[in-house]
Parts: sequence; structure tokens; C-alpha cells
Amino acid sequence: MIQLSRFVAIISPTLASATYRCTSDDDCSLNGICTPCSICKCDPGWTSNDCNKLNLQPATRGTGYNHTNVTLPDYYSTKGGNPSWGGQIVQDRRKKSLFYLITSQFARGCSLAGWRPFSTVIRAESRTGPAGGGATTTPRSSSGPSTTTPPSIGIDAAETLPDHCASCKWRNNISVSSAADVRGPWTPPQLVVSNSNNPAPWPAWSEGSPTSQIMLAVEDNYIFTAARWNDSMYGLVKTMAWNTSDYSDHWTEDPFLWRDRRGNWHILCHWMIDIAVHGVKYPRVGGHLFSRNLTGEWAFKLQEVYNTTVHFTDGGHTDYYRRERPKLFFSDDGLLRPLYLINGVQEFNSSASYTLVQPIGSGA
Ligand SMILES: *[C@@H]1O[C@H](CO)[C@@H](O)[C@H](O)[C@H]1NC(C)=O
Ligand SMILES: *[C@@H]1O[C@H](CO)[C@@H](O)[C@H](O)[C@H]1NC(C)=O
Ligand SMILES: *[C@@H]1O[C@H](CO)[C@@H](O)[C@H](O)[C@H]1NC(C)=O
Ligand SMILES: *[C@@H]1O[C@H](CO)[C@@H](O)[C@H](O)[C@H]1NC(C)=O
Ligand SMILES: *[C@@H]1O[C@H](CO)[C@@H](O)[C@H](O)[C@H]1NC(C)=O
Ligand SMILES: *[C@@H]1O[C@H](CO)[C@@H](O)[C@H](O)[C@H]1NC(C)=O
Ligand SMILES: *[C@@H]1O[C@H](CO)[C@@H](O)[C@H](O)[C@H]1NC(C)=O
Ligand SMILES: *[C@@H]1O[C@H](CO)[C@@H](O)[C@H](O)[C@H]1NC(C)=O
Repeated sequence: MIQLSRFVAIISPTLASATYRCTSDDDCSLNGICTPCSICKCDPGWTSNDCNKLNLQPATRGTGYNHTNVTLPDYYSTKGGNPSWGGQIVQDRRKKSLFYLITSQFARGCSLAGWRPFSTVIRAESRTGPAGGGATTTPRSSSGPSTTTPPSIGIDAAETLPDHCASCKWRNNISVSSAADVRGPWTPPQLVVSNSNNPAPWPAWSEGSPTSQIMLAVEDNYIFTAARWNDSMYGLVKTMAWNTSDYSDHWTEDPFLWRDRRGNWHILCHWMIDIAVHGVKYPRVGGHLFSRNLTGEWAFKLQEVYNTTVHFTDGGHTDYYRRERPKLFFSDDGLLRPLYLINGVQEFNSSASYTLVQPIGSGA
């Protein structure tokens, strides 16, 4: 057995190098190291010869946040159950076995088509690990977003809500609320970026460099920063060099921004090529952008990081109609290994949406 694995270890780099050779870590999508033999050694969680694919593992049915079979008496629509649309997993600071999913849920049973203003920030809890499972991932409260949990896609609807499911043509703003505890109470939302959407905050704080500075990626991969998360004005520091227009090949939405343990920057996003090519939301949907320098040059290789096919532990698979709003949950060992991918998903011929959590690599 030992001899066999040595044999494989020597042979596989030779095969890989026949098709792809790197000259720098950029050729490994900054998700790995370019070794002296010009082969990428990918970080845990990433795979393929240029390390630009997430090493996704089969998901387990009944995990994540899927309440599409639930309807309540106050629902305007009973077609889609209790719909949700992606969110962020957070581990409790003290009780390590307790995980929260801060997710967007559409009130009154309104589907995605009624997201504005029905999108509500809610907190679900799991005591069976980050992916949750069955009845243990339960909604606990309606509450506001927190600094590190990219939250609602709706707006602060001060006005009276419509009496039926409908989407209003309001412009979106990004605002911040805070609380000392995830259970609240939350401060009133404070506007930080107007006329934008899909916030993805990344605090600059690290043990080696304690700072209050915060980075914020938004729609079209615009990047803002502020000295403090509650500053009234976030400053725009970066717009991408390419054409971000609808239907261009670089058309994306739903950025998720992070800085890896080597200090490189990454954005995972919903790459809209699925719509542009096929006229429907299908099938290549995960995009990855990377840079050594937040305000410098970014790379977007126009390759799918994941697609709409999800395999399950029961041996089955689903090709989703929509798979959007990617977010990662990382290891807390300082290595920042991606352990779970969270998406808002919708199946074909269904108005129901839910929040899927898929394991990544062997670390999950
Ligand atoms: C989500 O729930 C619906 C309805 O209960 C079910 O048909 C579907 O298989 C579930 N999906 C997953 C991934 O658990
Ligand atoms: C919804 O599905 C879950 C998990 O499959 C099940 O435990 C629950 O009883 C279902 N609820 C309804 C109202 O059908
Ligand atoms: C967004 O902010 C602007 C101020 O910049 C304000 O005029 C507008 O009403 C806000 N929109 C909503 C929907 O709250
Ligand atoms: C921001 O929050 C800090 C406490 O965390 C507070 O001292 C400061 O006054 C706040 N600033 C603004 C502009 O609200
Ligand atoms: C950007 O892309 C759009 C959609 O493909 C196209 O109509 C537009 O001409 C492009 N703009 C530039 C400056 O290339
Ligand atoms: C997603 O990619 C896998 C292989 O990487 C492929 O088998 C599957 O057909 C793809 N799904 C779609 C919807 O194209
Ligand atoms: C990052 O990029 C900006 C803009 O190109 C440049 O001014 C700055 O010097 C770069 N920083 C580093 C550390 O290379
Ligand atoms: C969706 O429904 C249409 C007809 O209404 C059918 O032709 C199509 O095959 C269905 N797609 C899936 C994936 O079930």
C-alpha cells in the first residue's frame, strides 16, 4: 500500500504537468502554491490543475435551511412554502457546538419575486454542526444584520407592506445595525452606502493587526472601505476594470469577499453567464475573482468554480434552476479553510426557494 501511494504521488504530477504548467501562484488562482516543478499545490478546499474549483462534497438532504413544505395562516401565497435565499453561518463565541444561520427569508410566504420588501433577516440555530439538519435548524427570531454577517437583500421598509406578494421598484441602500449579542437587541439600521445591494463585509482585524477597519464589496464587485464599521460614509476604493454591464461575459452579482491566510483577496460571486448563454438560469453559476492587492489589479478567469449540479449523500443529484448568493464558512484554526458553501437555490418548475449548505473538502 505504501509503495502504491508513492507511485501515485510521483505519477500524478507528471500527468498534470503535461496539460497545465504554472509559473506563479496567480496561475494557481491564489488558491495554492506554484511548486518548483510548475505544478499547483492547491490549498485544502480547492481543486483542479489551477486550483480554481471548489472541492465540493455530497450534501445531505434535510440539512441547510429548507422549510419549503411549511405554510402559516398569515401567508399571502402557499405555493412556495416558507422561502429563504442564502445566508451566512456563524459559530457561537462561547458555545462552540452552536451555529447560527443568518439568512434572508421572505415574509408572508412570498417567493423571490416578492423579495423587495418581503425579505427579512432571520436567525436559525443548529446544534448538529454548521450544515444543520432536519428539525434542529429552526428559526429563532426576526432580527437585524450584524457586522460580519452579510444579511438582508431587502430594505428597511418603513412604509406599510403591500397586502399581496409583489416586488416594489424601490432603490436599495445598504445599512448597518449592531448588537452585543446575536440575539439582540439591534440598533436601528444606519445607512452606509446608498443605491447599492448585496453587501459583503470583511473586517480587516487580525490577531497580528487589530484594527476597526472594514472592507465592503457590493453589487458589480465595487469595493468600499471605512475606518470603522459604523462610519456614516464608506469610501469607494475599487471598481473592476472590465465591463460589468448586464449580459456582458463579466456580468456578476452577489459578491462574497474574503482575505486568505497569505493576505490575498478573493471574491466568490454568482456569475450571470448562465443567463447570458442559455436564456435561463442554468448551468454555470459560480465565479471567482482574486488579487494580491485589494485596490490593485484583479483577475477573473471566466471559469466556473461550481455549477448547478449538487450531488447528495443518498446517491442522487439535483440540477438546480437557480443557485445564487454564494457564501463560505471557514475553519477557525487560522488557516481559513473553506468548509461549507452556502447558496440560495430554486429547483426547476418551482417557486419555492431555500438555503443549501454543501460540504467542501475533507475538513467539513
Ligand atoms: C427541500 O424540501 C422540499 C420539500 O420538503 C423537498 O422536496 C426537497 O427535496 C428538499 N431539498 C433538500 C436538498 O433537502
Ligand atoms: C416538512 O419536512 C420535514 C423534513 O422532511 C418533516 O419533518 C416535516 O414534518 C414536514 N412538515 C410538513 C408540514 O409537512
Ligand atoms: C436610500 O437612501 C437615500 C438617501 O441616500 C434616501 O433618499 C432613500 O429614501 C433611501 N431609500 C430607501 C428605499 O430607503
Ligand atoms: C461607532 O461605535 C463605537 C462603539 O463601538 C462608538 O463609540 C462610536 O461612537 C460609533 N460611531 C458612530 C459614528 O456611531
Ligand atoms: C459592455 O457590455 C454590454 C453588454 O454586452 C455592451 O452592450 C456594451 O457595449 C459594452 N460596453 C463596452 C464599453 O464595451
Ligand atoms: C456540472 O459539472 C459536472 C462535472 O464537473 C457535470 O457532470 C455536470 O453535468 C455539470 N452540470 C451542469 C448542469 O452542466
Ligand atoms: C495596490 O494597488 C494600488 C493601485 O494600483 C497601488 O497604488 C498600490 O501601490 C498597490 N499596493 C501594493 C502594496 O502593491
Ligand atoms: C418543467 O416543466 C416543463 C413543462 O411545464 C417541462 O417541459 C420541463 O421538462 C420541466 N423541467 C424540469 C427540469 O422538470
